Amino acid sequence: MTQMKDPILLTPGPLTTSLQTKQAQVRDYGSRDVAFIEMTASVIAHLNDIVHGGDSHACVLMQGSGTFSVEAALGTLIPSSGHVLVCVNGEYGKRIARICEVIGRRHKILQTAEDQPTTGKMIDEALAADPSLTHVSIVHCETSTGILNPLEEIAAVAATRRRGLFVDAMSSFGALEIDARNLRFDCLVAASGKCLESVPGMGFAIVRKEALEKCRGNCHSLSLDLYDQWQSYLRTRQWRYTPPTTVVAALAEALKQFEAQGGVAGRGARYRENCDILINGLEKLGFVSFLPRVIQAPIITTWHAPADPKYNFNAFYDKVRERGFTLYPGKLTQVDTFRVGCIGAIGEAEMRQAVDAIAATVKEMGITQLKPSASARAVA
Ligand SMILES: Cc1ncc(COP(=O)(O)O)c(C=O)c1O
Repeated sequence: MTQMKDPILLTPGPLTTSLQTKQAQVRDYGSRDVAFIEMTASVIAHLNDIVHGGDSHACVLMQGSGTFSVEAALGTLIPSSGHVLVCVNGEYGKRIARICEVIGRRHKILQTAEDQPTTGKMIDEALAADPSLTHVSIVHCETSTGILNPLEEIAAVAATRRRGLFVDAMSSFGALEIDARNLRFDCLVAASGKCLESVPGMGFAIVRKEALEKCRGNCHSLSLDLYDQWQSYLRTRQWRYTPPTTVVAALAEALKQFEAQGGVAGRGARYRENCDILINGLEKLGFVSFLPRVIQAPIITTWHAPADPKYNFNAFYDKVRERGFTLYPGKLTQVDTFRVGCIGAIGEAEMRQAVDAIAATVKEMGITQLKPSASARAVA
């Protein structure tokens, strides 16, 4: 039987994983097996160490995709009397607002354009204007464009104004430095299948214990109650409900590789190189980036759709896919774009091949006008 070669996933999760990470999933673990219990404990300790959480922070694992953990964290950390300033400059900020709406947490949206970071100053002004606000939520890297929001200054403002801070670090955790010893947050959420380069299926929250200890009974949901999940783990060292055993095994293996490759510094450096190759390559072909480089996180890049009438995303996607690379559609409300990720178990060689595959596709489709139409640029 011929083995089909998987495409390289230039997407922000699921993403391309290493062979060792894939192979770590071939065993059957019982949830009470000593080996599995030890694996869970080591994953918890390791994730907490990545942000230097120490004894002041707890890492709580949660089954499901990243959104399950975001919803669990918001529902647990924000009391029903709370009021959240939700910073929005893309789809995942919007999702936090939607979760607050669904679970009945009062919130106010601080909206910025999709190509504008939310600054500490904006948040400071919003908090000064409304003393009823108890928490701030921010998406560190807004994956719908790849924009980086300035977490340090935002955390400093939240700390000075004595408000709780919730961070969606889904697509930055493990690649961009976050140090809980000098950056104050109540809760930070991420997942297995992003910059840690494992498979999707579980998320986690790193929570300041002082904040978490006050959260008993806050949550709107039984299964998403992070406080209960934490307490139950402390009592039993087991997951509260059926654990995603193979996902934990893959993550434990991916974390070993993460350390061997230099931790956050090593991963961040590789992604920055991947991102540079991609941006330089696509700009040389004539594509126009949606974001200026100074606010671009090295996670995912967003590109204006070419104005050429021969361009059509679905055909473009299929032809790049035939050449072995999976692209990602755009997620912007007003501008036609597509996205190309630079995270996963990929490096310089794969990024250069990806640029070549895109160049060959442009040629095959006869696309000559790579710049966007004037109206698309005006909206941006
Ligand atoms: C910043 C951010 N938040 C939340 C999510 C949601 O995660 P999931 O799709 O795993 O539920 C994602 C997914 O890419 C993300 O990038």
